[in-house]
Amino acid sequence: MKMESVECVISRKRIESRVIELGRQITDDYAGAELLVVGILNGAFIFMADLVRHIQLPCMVDFVRVSSYGPETSSSGKIKFIKDIELPVVGKDVLFVEDIVDTGLTLFKLMEVFQARNAKSVRTCVLIDKRERREHSVCVDYTGFVVSAGFLVGYGLDCAEQYRQLPEVFRLIKS
Ligand code: IMP
Ligand code: MG
Repeated sequence: MKMESVECVISRKRIESRVIELGRQITDDYAGAELLVVGILNGAFIFMADLVRHIQLPCMVDFVRVSSYGPETSSSGKIKFIKDIELPVVGKDVLFVEDIVDTGLTLFKLMEVFQARNAKSVRTCVLIDKRERREHSVCVDYTGFVVSAGFLVGYGLDCAEQYRQLPEVFRLIKS
């Protein structure tokens, strides 16, 4: 595996305890709900797997995969479904699980689509809220960590499809 220079920004210990807290909070907030947890592939796969094991409620799990196209970082950007969910959405309390929110485009558009599909509620849970490039105002209901800047990898996050399997979150250092 090609290793660029990296520095650890979120340790395994901090991730583990924050995921437990988020799971507890979601468990409290969604008591009695028809919870449908929707992971956004590929980046959310590790966070999602850990998080759902701390949600002590009946819930369903599904995944979407989307890609941004057009001018990716402009407000006219669009998303395209590579994979849509397979479970019905109408009347469900949808909770999107995402690795990182950057410009906000992905979550903003997904929320629009799922609201239009008549989900009962649509909320978001992100491991990392990175605010330096935000262009779409999205409500992040459950945030693991706020990171001001930089390109992050590990715990699901990639750079050119590398690094996803690292157990902690690192910042890439340009050399
Ligand atoms: P957004 O639509 O601009 O909010 O972009 C979100 C997506 O961009 C995330 O799901 C990631 O796939 C990717 N992304 C944004 N910042 C990073 C990063 O620092 N590391 C890895 N992926 C990132
Ligand atoms: Mg992603």
